[in-house]
Amino acid sequence: MNLDLRESWFVRDVEIPTRLVLAPMAGVSVQAFRRQGRRFGAGLVCSEMVSCAGIEHRNEKTLGYLRVASDEHPLAIQIFGSEPRTMAEAARMVEAAGADLVDINFGCPVRKVTKTGAGATLLDEPARAAAIVEAVAEAVDVPVSVKMRRGLRDGARTCLEVGPCLVDAGAATLTLHPRSAQQMYTGSADHSLTAELVSLVDVPVIASGDVTSRAKAQAVLAATGAAAVMVGRGAQGNPWALRQIVDGDEGEPTREEVVAELVLFIRETVRELGERRASSFLKKFYGWYLGRGRFPRPFKQELVVLDSTEDVERRLIAAAPGALQLIDQLEAELPGGDEVLLDLPISIYGGG
Ligand SMILES: Cc1cc2nc3c(=O)[nH]c(=O)nc-3n(C[C@H](O)[C@H](O)[C@H](O)COP(=O)(O)O)c2cc1C
Repeated sequence: MNLDLRESWFVRDVEIPTRLVLAPMAGVSVQAFRRQGRRFGAGLVCSEMVSCAGIEHRNEKTLGYLRVASDEHPLAIQIFGSEPRTMAEAARMVEAAGADLVDINFGCPVRKVTKTGAGATLLDEPARAAAIVEAVAEAVDVPVSVKMRRGLRDGARTCLEVGPCLVDAGAATLTLHPRSAQQMYTGSADHSLTAELVSLVDVPVIASGDVTSRAKAQAVLAATGAAAVMVGRGAQGNPWALRQIVDGDEGEPTREEVVAELVLFIRETVRELGERRASSFLKKFYGWYLGRGRFPRPFKQELVVLDSTEDVERRLIAAAPGALQLIDQLEAELPGGDEVLLDLPISIYGGG
C-alpha cells in the first residue's frame, strides 16, 4: 500500500502537516535539530524530556529547554516527573513558552529517571499515571500527548491496559515505542502492539521504533493504522532520511550539502548552548554527519580534537569549499533573531 506521508492529520485542533514526527531524544533534540527536522519534512517536532522539578525550581539550564523558535511549530515539549501537581505546573510553563502540545514521558527506561518514580515506571502505576495526565490536561488548553513503552519487562503488554485509561484521563494522542524498558534499545520494536493499541483507542497513535526508511514507514503505517511514524536514531546527523521517508527522495547529499547542514547546525547550537557546552555536545554529531561513507573516518577524529567550533567550521569548509554558498542560502532562508525566550509567567503562580 502506498500511503501518502505528506497528508496532514490532527491532534484535536492542532494540524500536523505530515505523517512523520521527529522523536524526542535527550542530548540530541536541541532547537537546531528540531528546526532542521521541520525543514526536511517532519510534521511535528519534540523537545527532549524536561524535568518538571527543574522547571519548578527555575533551573537555568532546564528553562533553556523551553526556548521556542517561530519556525518550529507545531512543537511538542516533553516533561517528566511523578507528581501530578508539579507536572501540571510544569505543563503551564510549557504552554506559556509556546508549545503546541504538552507531551508526558512514560517511557524513559534510564535509572536516574525511573528511580524517582518517573518515566517508564509509571506504566506499572496506572492510577498515578492517569492522575498525572488528568492534572496536566486540566492545567492547559493545548492538547496533551503521552509517550510510552510497551511496559517494564520483556514481553509486557502493559501499554494496552494503561493506554486507554490515559485517553480517558485526557490524552489527545499516544506515542508507543513498543520495546520494554528492560530492553532499552536492544532487540526490535514490536509494532503488532501498536496495531492493537490503535484498535483500542479513538485518538491518533504515533508509532515509534526502528523506522529508518520510507519502506519501513509505509509498512508500519499500513500494518498498524497509526496516524504517523516517529523517527529518532535514523535522523541523527541524517536529516536527508526524513526527506527520503516523506517524499521518497532517494538522492544522497553531496559533501557540500553535508558540510553546509553541519555548519549551520554548529552555529545554531553555539547560539543556543554557548560555546563551551556546544563544543562537547556537538562531538557526537560529527561522526553522525560525516559517517555513512560521506567522509574518510580520520576526518572525524581530526574534528573532535580541535579546540573551538570555529576551528571545526574552518576545517569543514576547507574540505568542501562549495558549502559556503549553500550556508549563505540556508541562513538567508531562516527566520532570524525571533527566538521566543521564556518570560517566566509569574502570574500563573499568583506572584510566587
Ligand atoms: C539518545 C536517545 C535519547 C532519547 N531520549 C528520549 C526522550 O528524552 N524522551 C522520549 O520520550 N524518548 C526518548 N528516546 C526514545 C526515542 O524517542 C524513540 O522512541 C526511540 O529511539 C525509538 O525510535 P528510533 O528507533 O526511531 O530511534 C531517546 C532515544 C535515544 C536514542
